[in-house]
Amino acid sequence: MESVLAYIEANTERYLEELRRLLAVPSVSTNPENAADVRRAAEWLSEHMQSIGLEHVEVFPTPGHPIVYGDWLHAEGRPTVLLYGHYDVQPVEPIDLWTSPPFEAAVRNGRLYGRGTADDKGQIFIHLKSIEAFLKTAGALPVNLKLILEGEEEIGSDHLEAFVEERREMLKADLVLMSDTPFFGEDLPAICYGLRGLSYMQIDCVGPNRDLHSGSFGGTVHNPIQALAEIISGLHDRRGRVTIPGFYDDVRPLTAKERRAFKQLPHSDRKYAADLGVRELYGEKGFTTLERVWARPTLECNGIWGGFTGEGAKTVLPSKASAKISMRLVPDQRADRTAKLFERHIRKIVPRTVRVNVSYLHGGEPAITPIDSPGVRAAVTALKKGFGKKPLYQREGGSIPIVVQFKKILGIDTVLLGFGQPDENAHAPDEFISLSHFYGGIRTSVYFFQELPHIMEEEQR
Ligand code: BES
Ligand code: ZN
Repeated sequence: MESVLAYIEANTERYLEELRRLLAVPSVSTNPENAADVRRAAEWLSEHMQSIGLEHVEVFPTPGHPIVYGDWLHAEGRPTVLLYGHYDVQPVEPIDLWTSPPFEAAVRNGRLYGRGTADDKGQIFIHLKSIEAFLKTAGALPVNLKLILEGEEEIGSDHLEAFVEERREMLKADLVLMSDTPFFGEDLPAICYGLRGLSYMQIDCVGPNRDLHSGSFGGTVHNPIQALAEIISGLHDRRGRVTIPGFYDDVRPLTAKERRAFKQLPHSDRKYAADLGVRELYGEKGFTTLERVWARPTLECNGIWGGFTGEGAKTVLPSKASAKISMRLVPDQRADRTAKLFERHIRKIVPRTVRVNVSYLHGGEPAITPIDSPGVRAAVTALKKGFGKKPLYQREGGSIPIVVQFKKILGIDTVLLGFGQPDENAHAPDEFISLSHFYGGIRTSVYFFQELPHIMEEEQR
């Protein structure tokens, strides 16, 4: 153990340099023009995985972006960990809001800034560097390890489920380890045990068959932008509840115990609002902020467009308007059922003055993971040693749909041992990872691999 940790200590600068090289590859999965970059990131990772001593490293093509696999399976009689991460990133626009270029990672105030630093290349790298430290010093890992890195997480993991189905044998493991969630705050380690699901929709609203002069026609037809705005504004009531009939039917109520536990966490609405620059928070009445974001379903408009949006003024009554709307789901809601409820409701409320087309873009199921499993116990011990603090237990509002698919297909639970932080600006300008989380994360990963076999053995006794 000593030599593994000493190796990490001696290589901190190089580790950071290498991560910066991975971060320099603009693997934006949603942009078709970046497809070659996404592949380049996969190849970079596969070469890197080979160089640190992982075996059977392979870049598997899919109809979309590739999946990188590698393993190390020489810890006979020890548990097998399936380590999952994603190397694709979100677009960087609006680019002028970045303090330093998104693909030229830069250190400022103890933080590494750049797209993918937290979500999720930096977090993948935490484990790669702990694996390297084991293999380059001890020549072995305390566990068997299988790595699966995908390039389509940010666009719905379209081809991962089929891959896992097809390669069920190859991916067989005792648990999944995933680092793609935040701590409760900076230097406030946390174990995440819940994620929301998602149904992502688009509404296209069509009025007249062509764009019209707003003077000649204004007042004669329903402007589709107005009609769409009316539809959207009707999707919440005055108590902040979603008005779609049946939307809350399958929501598992929070237990009194969980509500108490949430209330114990060091959260302040005042600080939260101040940090976001809003005078007051908004949301479903009767629930606290943490309850609303972690354990209540919500509906958000992600974007809305139509008509003239250029500079200056153009008097037009447009023919079309569209909106992207996502719903975050909690157990036991289902993504396709919620999408159907949404579509049925929109069809029912749309006025006769316009027509709508509703499409279901993608979805994922909500997840609750056990908090008393050997994997989580190993993670708790590892965080205590890696950060010198007992972790908090928390849920999250974001989604990682593969968690439920791993359970369904491979029959195993996921340990959500993330090293980000809530204000990390994921998906936004100036995304960062704190260097203390990066290096503490590497140590924690080392302790996790070290602890897991002992805890699992104890369990079996
Ligand atoms: N790392 C996030 C998931 C996440 C975000 C977990 C915030 C906890 C808190 C992941 O990369 C992500 O952004 N997922 C998408 C999933 C979607 C595209 C299916 C999300 O949550 O929007
Ligand atoms: Zn993300």
